[in-house]
Amino acid sequence: MNFFHSMRAAAVFAVALAAVAPAHAADDALFQGLGGKPGIKNIVETFKPMVLADPRIKETFSDSDMKHVGMRLEEQLCVLAGGPCTYGGEPMKETHGGLKITNAQFNALAENLQIAMEKNGVATSVANKLVAKLAPMQRDIVTK
Ligand code: HEM
Repeated sequence: MNFFHSMRAAAVFAVALAAVAPAHAADDALFQGLGGKPGIKNIVETFKPMVLADPRIKETFSDSDMKHVGMRLEEQLCVLAGGPCTYGGEPMKETHGGLKITNAQFNALAENLQIAMEKNGVATSVANKLVAKLAPMQRDIVTK
């Protein structure tokens, strides 16, 4: 490889880095905006009793292990926010397929999550971005 080739390779590499770096920064910003792993844990801890008290959806959770659901939800929110986590649970379609969940119930759960984020001091712009990332899951979760 001569000088010009290596200069060109360096330039191509720099352009590639410039294209990739901002995307990573943006992803991490959402995770940071939630307060990282401790922030996500607090949000889920606020969210769980809200769900169990909400007449629109509480029945659906009556037979569930909320400790387990909370743990999986923490992992999932962390992944969605671009955090350094792995989701170890079941696919959304398998978990929710038999639960006959309606659109209104999906929205009720999202609303609880949004309020739980607000209660934990998450910026509205960050909360909105996270909820927007949940929206595509609707087609796997809502079956009624
Ligand atoms: C964006 C919306 C939602 C997300 C991200 C979500 C996420 C999750 C996760 C990660 C789990 C654990 C999966 C596992 O154990 O492997 C779960 C379980 C569960 N979800 Fe959802 N969920 C959503 C909406 C809903 C809604 C709207 C309802 C009902 C109103 C619901 C009811 C349940 C129930 C009952 C379980 C536990 C099932 C069991 O006991 O095995 N989910 N959800």
